[in-house]
Amino acid sequence: MTETSRFSYRDLFSESAPKDPPRAAAVVRAKYDFAVAYPDPDSLPLDDLVDSLGSALAEEGRGLAVYPHQQGYPPLRDYVASKLGRDREMRVGVDDIILADGSSQPLHMVMESLLDPGDVVLTEEFVYVGTLTMLRRFRADIRGVECDEAGLLPDALEAAVTRAKGEGKRPKFIYTIPTFQNPLGWTMTLERREALVEIAQRHDVAVLEDDCYVDLRYDGEPVPAIHSLDDTGRVMYVGSFSKTIAPGMRLGYLTGARELLETARAVKSGGGVNQFATLAVHRYAASGKLDEHIDEAVGILRKKRDAMLAALGESFGGAAKWSRPAGGLYVWLEMPGEADLVGAREAAFEADVGYSAGNSFAPDGVSGGNMARLCFGYNTPEEIHEGVGRLADVFSREGVLGA
Ligand SMILES: Cc1ncc(COP(=O)(O)O)c(C=O)c1O
Repeated sequence: MTETSRFSYRDLFSESAPKDPPRAAAVVRAKYDFAVAYPDPDSLPLDDLVDSLGSALAEEGRGLAVYPHQQGYPPLRDYVASKLGRDREMRVGVDDIILADGSSQPLHMVMESLLDPGDVVLTEEFVYVGTLTMLRRFRADIRGVECDEAGLLPDALEAAVTRAKGEGKRPKFIYTIPTFQNPLGWTMTLERREALVEIAQRHDVAVLEDDCYVDLRYDGEPVPAIHSLDDTGRVMYVGSFSKTIAPGMRLGYLTGARELLETARAVKSGGGVNQFATLAVHRYAASGKLDEHIDEAVGILRKKRDAMLAALGESFGGAAKWSRPAGGLYVWLEMPGEADLVGAREAAFEADVGYSAGNSFAPDGVSGGNMARLCFGYNTPEEIHEGVGRLADVFSREGVLGA
């Protein structure tokens, strides 16, 4: 085919199609990779998953010949509903759950169901990149709300709601990652959760609770889900098997009021979620092995978290501040205001250390250039120690440490 005969889609792309889609290049990773949230690769429960899949296929494999239920394999939904009751004090049944492709798809389903261009969505001041990307695609007016170590500040939240309403824009929802927040690392206290629910109820605003890290707790007691504190049906809740089994499983779930679920189910195309994966995960989880695996993973990740906190203390001392997360996968590093952690990324990468600069989590895309998210899930404790040391060396050389 000659160059001139090539067909062009340029004039065909829809208005909402991404204008500058990222290339699907192989991910280039540093050896000391604190940039992306990978689980511990050596503790993936591969043998147990193979056994679970084998027995499920032997008994029910022929069921793959028909399209799965639109909300997903009922026994796994039943398991999820019981787990949410047991661990999160949420009263939901099998019909209140939609299984989907990770928790990303549920987030997308909620946005597609609720958002029109220009709609206001309130989020924490720094927030998971995937959510930000989706909200931008839906052309939401994303407004970050100030937080401290205990979560969203109620006064700031109330002010943001009131301001939006004053502009004639009742916020479509408040999006929060209340447990082991990504990227900030804190967990919202019960008092703050109650305050959030009270504000949401008083101003008649919906809440989207993203709880995908909740099972990875290393210290302290669980805090009830925001969903469990509300009896009006305004809280939508998403969870995932990505952080407890593996992101490659692509399995997560959404629950919320039936009215919302019906619309969310309708916007989800493709006839139910991958039954092959749900069969394996259901057998695996219902046998109790998932709980055992989570206990084991928590033990491993706790050591990694401790290694990162100790290494930061050794290498950064009083030159920076950082969060001390009771769970999850991230430490949030804050350098003095003038430090340029966006610019220092390249030099860090040359030293084989990867991290995510804070601005990538900011709704405005700019704030937080002196901050970084460090993920401790992937490397061993020894590697974490080495990587943090290298990072401090790079920051000194680049004039960032002590800037
Ligand atoms: C807060 C949060 N929500 C949702 C997701 C999406 O994960 P998945 O689609 O794999 O469940 C992530 C992934 O890192 C996340 O950090």
